[in-house]
Amino acid sequence: MASEKMATLILAAGKGTRLRSRRAKVLHRAGGRALVEHVVRAALPLGGPVFVVIGHQAKEVAALVEPLGAQTILQEPQQGTGHALQVARQALAGFRRALVVPGDAPLVRTETLAALAAKHRADGAAAMLLTAVLDDPTGYGRIVREKDGAVRAIIEQKSANETELAIREINSGMYCFTLERLWGLLGELRPENVHRELYLTDVVALLHRLGERVSAQTAEDPKEILGCNTRGELAEVDRVFRRRKIEALMAAGVTFYLPETSLVDPDVEIGADTIIEPCVELLGATRLGAGVTVGTGSVIADSTIEDEAIVRPHSLVVASRLGRGVVVGPFAHLRDGAEIADGARVGNYVEVKKSRLGKGAKAMHLTYLGDATVGRDTNIGAGTITCNYDGVRKNPTTIGARVFIGSGTELVAPVEIGDGAYVAAGSTITENVPADALGIARARQVTKPGWAVERRSKMAGEKSVAAKPSAGSSTPSNGAKGETSSRQPGQVRGRKAARAKSRRPRR
Ligand code: UD1
Ligand code: MG
Repeated sequence: MASEKMATLILAAGKGTRLRSRRAKVLHRAGGRALVEHVVRAALPLGGPVFVVIGHQAKEVAALVEPLGAQTILQEPQQGTGHALQVARQALAGFRRALVVPGDAPLVRTETLAALAAKHRADGAAAMLLTAVLDDPTGYGRIVREKDGAVRAIIEQKSANETELAIREINSGMYCFTLERLWGLLGELRPENVHRELYLTDVVALLHRLGERVSAQTAEDPKEILGCNTRGELAEVDRVFRRRKIEALMAAGVTFYLPETSLVDPDVEIGADTIIEPCVELLGATRLGAGVTVGTGSVIADSTIEDEAIVRPHSLVVASRLGRGVVVGPFAHLRDGAEIADGARVGNYVEVKKSRLGKGAKAMHLTYLGDATVGRDTNIGAGTITCNYDGVRKNPTTIGARVFIGSGTELVAPVEIGDGAYVAAGSTITENVPADALGIARARQVTKPGWAVERRSKMAGEKSVAAKPSAGSSTPSNGAKGETSSRQPGQVRGRKAARAKSRRPRR
């Protein structure tokens, strides 16, 4: 004797030919999750066990749904939705009733499934269908009713005549069945249709012919039953999910400018009074505190941003953490475990990878910090680069607190700069700089007064000779006079004249 218990059966074995994809349909994503994951998540709170019929890319689908708590049933080959039920019969043997839900209609909510099951229990019908009235019913099975309202049959799009095609009430593909009345009929299904498949929908006509009652409930919100058979439907369903999420966030006190342009994944959390400017993507396990501003065009994935922080426009923040009051961007790139402590600042065209910036530290312009630790209140000058990769390994750079790194510095890792030290602009630092020391590593400047004037007059002379070749050559000036005394180590004297004769100017 079957128990009173109810199970949910999600049909997810199909290929999804109309998507023209190498990936199984239910693995496609909308609203930040795979289609079948949404359906499993809607079914789990109902309490009963959730079975998923898998077939196409069965391994991948199982790997997705089993960790959520669903069990899987393999349908191989896939011969239609009716065949999927035949395959599931053994697994459902202990249950009196089953909710059957397509894996490609991800907008369905738990409450809607619960209401369908409750209605079925109260009604006592052999089957209770969830239907919807759509402005454009193209592609869905049509609900054919008797004059008294009883459901007589479901006619698939490709089998429908003109009168049936005009029916706007469609089959959602969600049903609640009394299983003992279903099993016998599954054997009577015939693949007499364009797809040569066994249609679950045909059991409705079979039940009706046997005098069994089939009831239908119409969905309050027809959007909930939308399927994803085509890329167009996928996009529409994604849009509905995104709107739902952003509306919930706005209701909780988050401001969105042009909300329809932003994209927020389902697990994202945002505090009150945070402002999201247009065209922002907030993805994965991202959490934003209160009073945060995220500028136009920024993308934030799997990151935490504390209260009052500002992400200026067009920044990319991935797997990173920004402390309270941090300001980053515009055009900043933070990734792979970047940690920016409270009040620190990362400016334009700065990339921070797997690095930590201490409280109040600043790296404002055109910089790369990789595998680096930067102490509090340190200033990283414009165009600083940590040379962290030696072609084999990634090496660390450690910069202490209150350090001043001059602009255009290269820090060749592994290297350490002690607290309070200075590094002169333009240095290529290959050795540690102790605390409070100055590190300077660059060529001394050579300045040649008047050099440019002589150069120009020499060029003018050469030009006039070239114009009158018969006039004979004029003697070129004898080069840079009055050069400063600074002489490079190893520099050879007496090269000056030779250099001046050279056609190309040199320093
Ligand atoms: C189905 C219904 C249609 C309904 C629509 C609602 C049938 C014959 N038609 O059409 O009346 O309006 O859903 O969305 O049922 N699947 C299997 N095994 C198979 C075939 C399909 O598990 O052998 C799965 C698919 O992966 C999919 C679900 O069943 O998740 C529905 O199949 P699909 O091909 O999308 O049916 P529709 O043409 O949308
Ligand atoms: Mg479908």
